[in-house]
Amino acid sequence: MTVSNNMHDDIEEVLITEDVLQARVTSLAAAIAEDYRGKDLLLVGILRGAIMFMVDLAKRLPLPLDIDFMAISSYGDATESSGVVRILKDLDEDIGGKDVLIVEDIIDTGLTLRYLMEYLARRNPASLTVCALLDKHKDRDKVVEPAYLGFRIPDRFVVGYGLDYAQKYRNLPYIGVLKPSVYGQGE
Ligand code: IMP
Ligand code: MG
Repeated sequence: MTVSNNMHDDIEEVLITEDVLQARVTSLAAAIAEDYRGKDLLLVGILRGAIMFMVDLAKRLPLPLDIDFMAISSYGDATESSGVVRILKDLDEDIGGKDVLIVEDIIDTGLTLRYLMEYLARRNPASLTVCALLDKHKDRDKVVEPAYLGFRIPDRFVVGYGLDYAQKYRNLPYIGVLKPSVYGQGE
């Protein structure tokens, strides 16, 4: 893989601009603030993809809340879901009695979230809900529908705003699609 010195040169198409992203995060935060007033909210960010979304969302919530993180293995460096879910870092805090909101970057096959929901439900949270920035909305068993969703996107591999390809491009401020040449194709 060759990453350009200016990462923007590797982007074929911007799917969601920074302005549109930020506006959507603001409206999601408003809905969450309304629903979680008076509750014991714990945001659980799924590392590493959800970091940008998690930070922007948390900053827009006026509620008192706790923050924790989990790390889950999914893709390695490939662009296809392996279906294998492994916990690399578990929560630091007890979630018993808390209103847990999982903050996830993207739902592709839905395997990661389905596993996570089952795993966390066993620890008796008061409630367990998902906020996802993106959903590829594939044909899949509708096991997990996020209560809060930023955008439905086409079934393409995207990078930026936390999402990576081989650990790069997470710091792009928008959601974009890479040029095929970055994958070593099309040239
Ligand atoms: P799922 O288990 O197939 O739903 O995969 C979810 C995880 O795969 C996400 O949390 C991402 O980390 C990763 N992922 C899925 N699609 C993309 C993509 O288009 N770009 C970057 N990462 C992705
Ligand atoms: Mg992820």
